Amino acid sequence: MPTATPDSAFTKGLEGVVATESAVCTVFGDEGRLVYRGYDIHDLADHSTFEETAYLLLNGDLPTRAQLKTFTAQIKASQKLDRVVLRIIKDAPAGANPMHVLRTAVSAAVFVDPDRGDDSRAAEYRKAVRLIAQLPTMLGAFQRLRSGQKPLTPRRGLSLAANTLYLLTGEIPEPEVVRAFDVALILHADHELNASTFAARVIAATLADMHGAVTGAIAALAGPLHGGANTEAMKMLLDIKTPDRAESWVRERLARKERIMAFGHRVYRTEDPRASHLRRMSEELGRKFGQSHWFAIQRIIEDVVKREKGLYCNVDFYSATLYYVMGIPLDLYTPIFVASRVSGWCAHVLEQHADNRLIRPRAEYVGPLNRRWTPLRKRG
Ligand code: ACO
Repeated sequence: MPTATPDSAFTKGLEGVVATESAVCTVFGDEGRLVYRGYDIHDLADHSTFEETAYLLLNGDLPTRAQLKTFTAQIKASQKLDRVVLRIIKDAPAGANPMHVLRTAVSAAVFVDPDRGDDSRAAEYRKAVRLIAQLPTMLGAFQRLRSGQKPLTPRRGLSLAANTLYLLTGEIPEPEVVRAFDVALILHADHELNASTFAARVIAATLADMHGAVTGAIAALAGPLHGGANTEAMKMLLDIKTPDRAESWVRERLARKERIMAFGHRVYRTEDPRASHLRRMSEELGRKFGQSHWFAIQRIIEDVVKREKGLYCNVDFYSATLYYVMGIPLDLYTPIFVASRVSGWCAHVLEQHADNRLIRPRAEYVGPLNRRWTPLRKRG
């Protein structure tokens, strides 16, 4: 029978489909290996900073000392929010979802971006730097305003990680906390063609602008099957409360065929390399802040889910407790993910625009054909 669609295999969820070439990042699912621009994630987590990693993703190479100085200065010069963007954050109604506020603020940031309307690579790069610089300020302003406090001005002497924590809490945390947060930002910065990055590239491939692509990516990241899983994982742990309840809690959920949030992955078939670092940091900071029971619960859950379903935890499992013991509100975990992943999204948008082709796949049509139109009066 003739069909409207070409004769090619349909893969639900595009699993295993190679949809683009990219030199930004790759994932070796069977080995549990993650590589940004040729550098193993373990090396970056052990030695790099978020600023250096963001530069690497955007430019393809690690910066020289002078390049890093310039890049850091560009970030610092762009951190302040325009009052148009601040107004939008202020006007968000009480109880607004921070991911909704963030994507609205990012979308609005283009109104006042000095390069709006300029699609040149240099202008898009500057927009990327501004977005990386401003997301922590947006996050901080939102958190302070909803707690009835005045937003803080970013401090020039602080790294992006330290500034993010300062803008959220009003305090400069100790170096150990800042370093753990910096490593978490590095680990979240990119992940090949995940759902939000693919969304960003689809938008960019229509030759839409950087802010549009990032706004769409934020919307995609918010879902509980993607970045939203970190908040859901913490809610699960709060519900479990104590290690002695963990095993039965998980077994009951699995028996009901429910998903355990922050477990499983489309690509990894072994340990997610990001989880190894987050597990270690979560254990260390949990101990430091007298909250080791979360780690104890998590180890039990990991064990049961591995035994029963053969699934490993992903990046969202231990980042949840890491942020929790740092005192960060639950609903800001995914927005923090945004503050890091924006660097990867922007790198992918630049790459897409450098060698663009519209992304327009086909659907296998399963609906009816050849129906006869009937006038409204005859349809009952
Ligand atoms: N808990 C229980 N079972 C699971 C889980 C889970 N977290 N994840 C997958 N499974 C099971 C499914 O029920 C299915 O079992 P079945 O074949 O018996 O029906 C099988 O594993 C395959 O699941 P799919 O949904 O087909 O796998 P997919 O590759 O589409 O999904 C996903 C990947 C969405 C990450 C999935 O593992 C999931 O829902 N995890 C929980 C949400 C989560 O942690 N998301 C964050 C991912 S990381 C990130 O985006 C930053």
